[in-house]
Amino acid sequence: ISLALTSLALALSASTAIANCDPGERVVKFSHVTGGTTHPKVVAANNFADRVNKEMNGKLCVEVFPNSTLFGDSKELEALLLGDVQLLAPSLSKFGSYTDKYGVFDLPFIFKDMDHAIRFTKTKEGKALLTEMDEYAGFVGLGYWMSGMKYFSAKKPLLVPSDAKGMKFRVQTSDVAKQMIAAMGASPQAMAFSEVYGALQTGVVDGQENTWSNIYTQKFYEVQDSTTDTNHQLLAYLFMTSSEFLKSLSPEDREQFVQIADEVTQEANLSVKAAEEENRDNIVKAGGKINYLTPEQRQEWVNTMKPVWQQFESYIGKDLIDAAAGA
Ligand code: LMR
Repeated sequence: ISLALTSLALALSASTAIANCDPGERVVKFSHVTGGTTHPKVVAANNFADRVNKEMNGKLCVEVFPNSTLFGDSKELEALLLGDVQLLAPSLSKFGSYTDKYGVFDLPFIFKDMDHAIRFTKTKEGKALLTEMDEYAGFVGLGYWMSGMKYFSAKKPLLVPSDAKGMKFRVQTSDVAKQMIAAMGASPQAMAFSEVYGALQTGVVDGQENTWSNIYTQKFYEVQDSTTDTNHQLLAYLFMTSSEFLKSLSPEDREQFVQIADEVTQEANLSVKAAEEENRDNIVKAGGKINYLTPEQRQEWVNTMKPVWQQFESYIGKDLIDAAAGA
């Protein structure tokens, strides 16, 4: 009986996952960790699914699983390699086990704003990083999706880096981020995205760094004193698949799929700035507090964090750092 129940449960969950797909269509699962309706990744992932499902109707059917409901941070890259999912859009800060080079995107204050980061992704060096992991990991980047610049939130106002002394901050699994927190005299704690709200609420960590869109849609502002407009680092995603999946498509289907991915990427990056501003305003409307810095205070953040570049130069490569900084 228990075997019968298990297979019934499996059949039911499978049928929910493919509910909108027609018989004969190949299901393409897209898993990601963000939520809400106004988040740039949610919007871009849904746009991609809508376009493939309309323009490749009868062939492919993309199903999107947001909010870590299919796979969370710790399992999704492995699941892609196993073929349990075909599309992901993890933060570029989550590839430390596969490449050191993506550390360039994490360097504090390397990008002035998202336009600067977008310019870098269009350079020879930026484009090469899309397929950097293909040969040894089978990961293929279809495009870079910007998410926003990052800001620190904490249980008390942070106006200068020394305000963070002794506090614990949740970070993504990025060595650059860990050193950056250490440079502030604070302790970094790597943690999956889905666990951050609970960790802030229970005091497992005192603060975190993220975009306005994540701080709003995950409601981090509810369990933090305030967020400071530090603008210290980029959050962007690798919209990605596996080379195995791409190779399994016919040449015509592959071309169409990659073309749609490229168009959705361009469109997503055009609207991300407005989405970030909207979500910043949403935080304030919902009662969250934002601290703005004077030029002197801002300079203190730069002085404290920029020495981290030196620590990673030999891992990332000076040429790559120069290409990003000068883009
Ligand atoms: C985080 O873990 O803070 C972010 O990478 C989540 C996301 O995907 O925006």
